[in-house]
Amino acid sequence: MGKNVKIAPSLLAADFLRLGDEIRKVEAAGADLLHFDVMDGHFVPNISLGICILESVRQATRLPLDVHLMLDNPEKHLDAFAAAGADGITIHLEIHPEPDAILDRIGGLGKTRGLAVNPDLPMERLAGKLARVDRLLIMGVFPGFGGQAFIQATLERLTRARQLLDAEGRAAAELQVDGGIGPKNSAAVIAAGTDCLVAGTAIFRAPDPAAAILALRGGDSPGK
Ligand code: DX5
Ligand code: ZN
Repeated sequence: MGKNVKIAPSLLAADFLRLGDEIRKVEAAGADLLHFDVMDGHFVPNISLGICILESVRQATRLPLDVHLMLDNPEKHLDAFAAAGADGITIHLEIHPEPDAILDRIGGLGKTRGLAVNPDLPMERLAGKLARVDRLLIMGVFPGFGGQAFIQATLERLTRARQLLDAEGRAAAELQVDGGIGPKNSAAVIAAGTDCLVAGTAIFRAPDPAAAILALRGGDSPGK
């Protein structure tokens, strides 16, 4: 096993009728944090989880909660997501091309500051934008739905993201990848410098989530 990567199960792939059990399942399986996808039907074509669900999730776990805001107007909702129990809040550079002010607001709420980019955003747009970033999230699919195929070009984007973080004095910031992650590509994204793997389908839909998490970390493959 290589470096100690974090694993963040994405609740989008959970069975929502049994959400408490699903959270306990991935806690027992070794999750380091939980990833909570918020979609508005505008920035992305789907609508997903909202504030009242986050409040319930917060009651159910002590794991850190990363809230991924796929919204046209994340600035309107920061206070509500912070109050509902987020530990980290991630916004998209496509919506806030000059992200310093909104990242300062997130930090001012006592939350870790995340910046996400879609697969078609030129990586050089990140240059000079990373000073306030605690977490840089590189999408491995176009956001909106779980269970999509990983876009291979994401590997070079992760390598470039790591270089940009290091070059801009943010070597300690966490590099995350989100979308299409599974045991077949986890070693490659880790080799590219990723610190935290977000995975929905590969964990919640696995017959043995603990084995799935071990495989993502670079341990024994569950045979996929
Ligand atoms: C995609 C979401 C992801 C999604 C990942 O729009 O941001 O977090 O849940 O799902 P999988 O791991 O199934 O690709
Ligand atoms: Zn996400």
